[in-house]
Amino acid sequence: MYTKEEIFERLWKDYSELNPSAKRIYDLFIAEGETVVNDHIAFRTFNHSKVNVDVLSKVFLNAGYEFKQDYHFETKKLYAKHFEHKKDPDAPRIFISELKLELCSKFLQIAVQDLINRLSRDILKPTSLVFSGNSWGTPSYETYTKLREESEYAAWLYVFGFRANHFTVSVNHLKKYNSLEKVNQLLKNNGFLINDSGGEIKGSPKQLLEQSSIKADHISMEFKDGVKEIPGCYYEFAKRYSDEYGKLYSGFIAKSADKIFESTDYYDKKK
Ligand code: NI
Repeated sequence: MYTKEEIFERLWKDYSELNPSAKRIYDLFIAEGETVVNDHIAFRTFNHSKVNVDVLSKVFLNAGYEFKQDYHFETKKLYAKHFEHKKDPDAPRIFISELKLELCSKFLQIAVQDLINRLSRDILKPTSLVFSGNSWGTPSYETYTKLREESEYAAWLYVFGFRANHFTVSVNHLKKYNSLEKVNQLLKNNGFLINDSGGEIKGSPKQLLEQSSIKADHISMEFKDGVKEIPGCYYEFAKRYSDEYGKLYSGFIAKSADKIFESTDYYDKKK
């Protein structure tokens, strides 16, 4: 069993090494005198019984988390659950989504079954799975491209496997950069690209949650057919508001998250 601190440290190490932008932004906030607290950490998976949300969430349930709410994303064929720590209100929320395979093409279903068949019994243990990354082997760029035509989400999972898809900075815990506008401006001034699908800021104070994110870094990945540059993970920023009873909103807004998922969509770097 892992404590939540051990889990997050391990996930952050993997994520920040893979995505230099996340580390650069984190360091930028620290240099500005800010304290970085995570609003949530998100994971992706397939709804296959061996790796679904219920399997992936076990390591968090064992570390004191409990289920809070679920969400449906019809066009992206996703279902998600969010979890919160029972005692520590400053612990990051955990957001885990899964792709509904039965709604996908035969090609995608067969490809995913083949990947899962390649996972060892050790990897499939709940304590290993969430940290395991891609343990089904070097991907093929041809398969990646074909998956991407159907689901950017599946293509990302095919290459990167099980790891944090994104960490999210809690803007509520920032002093100087206390709005999404200020955070986005800081990022743009430092050369980062903001995901503008659905506008740079998703949600509104009225909806009690505002979110923005950078577009995922292009990182060099080894494919069977050579090294290619593809989008990795992204860094997200969230500001929460209190409801009419003064209670801070803690859920997610499906319509906003739907657009945030697109932060890992393939894009031409030269544009
Ligand atoms: Ni998120």
